[in-house]
Amino acid sequence: MLIKNGRVVTADSDSVCDVLIQDEIIVAIGRHLPDTADQVIDAGGKLVLPGGIDPHVHLDMPFMGTFSSDTHETGTRAALHGGTTTVIDFVLQKQGHSLREALTEWQGRATGNAVGDYSFHMAVTDFNEQTQAEIAEMVAEGITSFKVFMAYKGALMIDDAQLVGLMQEVKRHGALVTVHATNGDMIDTLIAQHRAQGKLSPLYHYLSQPEVTEAEASGRFTDIANYTGVNAYIVHLTCEGALNQVREATRRNQRVFVETCIQYLLLDASLYELDFEGAKYVMSPPLRQKKDQETLWAGINQGLVQVVGTDHCPFLWEQKQMGKHDFSKIPNGHPAIEHRMELLFSEGVSKGRISLQRFVAVTATNAAKIFGMFPRKGTISIGADADLIIIDPEHKHTISAATHHMNVDYSAYEGWELTGKVETVILRGQVAIQDEQAHVAKGYGQFIKRGPTFF
Ligand code: URP
Ligand code: ZN
Ligand code: ZN
Repeated sequence: MLIKNGRVVTADSDSVCDVLIQDEIIVAIGRHLPDTADQVIDAGGKLVLPGGIDPHVHLDMPFMGTFSSDTHETGTRAALHGGTTTVIDFVLQKQGHSLREALTEWQGRATGNAVGDYSFHMAVTDFNEQTQAEIAEMVAEGITSFKVFMAYKGALMIDDAQLVGLMQEVKRHGALVTVHATNGDMIDTLIAQHRAQGKLSPLYHYLSQPEVTEAEASGRFTDIANYTGVNAYIVHLTCEGALNQVREATRRNQRVFVETCIQYLLLDASLYELDFEGAKYVMSPPLRQKKDQETLWAGINQGLVQVVGTDHCPFLWEQKQMGKHDFSKIPNGHPAIEHRMELLFSEGVSKGRISLQRFVAVTATNAAKIFGMFPRKGTISIGADADLIIIDPEHKHTISAATHHMNVDYSAYEGWELTGKVETVILRGQVAIQDEQAHVAKGYGQFIKRGPTFF
């Protein structure tokens, strides 16, 4: 396949040229490559970028008494429609059980079902001698990132003693610890207080997780990571207080990777004033203030925030009704896997908030480097997987649940008009999406084994 005349942009280059693909791999990049390919795509006037990588998705995940509504099939297909060619999903260890059991369960759900490429993080919810011994095994499986939750006590949360032990073990294997950094005990106390006072609407989900709960845990995690020397990454960071903890850590030459998610850049806490409609935005951490959005956009440009993911964890409106009379029972999560790239392109690049190179870095390249997939994924270079997207930067379109491909019956961005559309998606040399149609089937998506951080 030859992609001709596109403006080919990576995290550090920008030129009009051709890209030649053989089988699954990019084999040549240059001007006026010979036009002898079986399939030629004219990308004149369009942008050719690396396929997106979303390192934070929850597909078919058991959570809060139900399952997230996108499977590995529907979720990765929706991701492809929006230009995300690889996702990293979370395997959750069940407390009292092994990492291996959890991995086998997730493999059962994903293998043969994914349409786009995927990998796994392992969430360690019970760190003990047995789990410690399994860390090396997981690294050998190509799972090189270990997630911890500092909240969701009784289900997912680990304490600081387990956190130190896990970090020490993960460091021994040159892998990465990622964190949901919020103070679970403080949040549980505030939830209990609100419920006791009969304050049960979605607004109180927000008020039970004030900024300090995230800033405190982010600082504690960063300090313990500094002590242990492990590679560290904070997922879904939302606010100024938390980012300032990371900023402060740079003063002692510590590096902590930071991911924010598209919703924290674009949506704010005023949405919790919508009575039960606010349930659509019940996620953890909650949406924040406009000043936090400004901090996050600046953080991207300052290089403090390296990744924009989604924390895609969709629930049908019917599932959200589980918390109709009690905000603490609303399944936490929001759907975005399909629109992350186009939302960030439109709101970030088209509106001049970030450069095109920065867009590529935060949607693809940095995640590939941090999570050990670079240069196979996340860039356009000879020898890399031919995961490419072609964007028409002027194409205007409108987001709606009526036309999206995620298995969820509402959109958090209903009616948003975007400038810039992903028109063609190529995954390992195959046209996966063209003219809004999927051209690869369930089972095409491959599990991607990952190595160490290369950043
Ligand atoms: O609300 C969220 N974020 N749901 C998914 C689980 C998590 O904390 O990432
Ligand atoms: Zn989380
Ligand atoms: Zn998450």
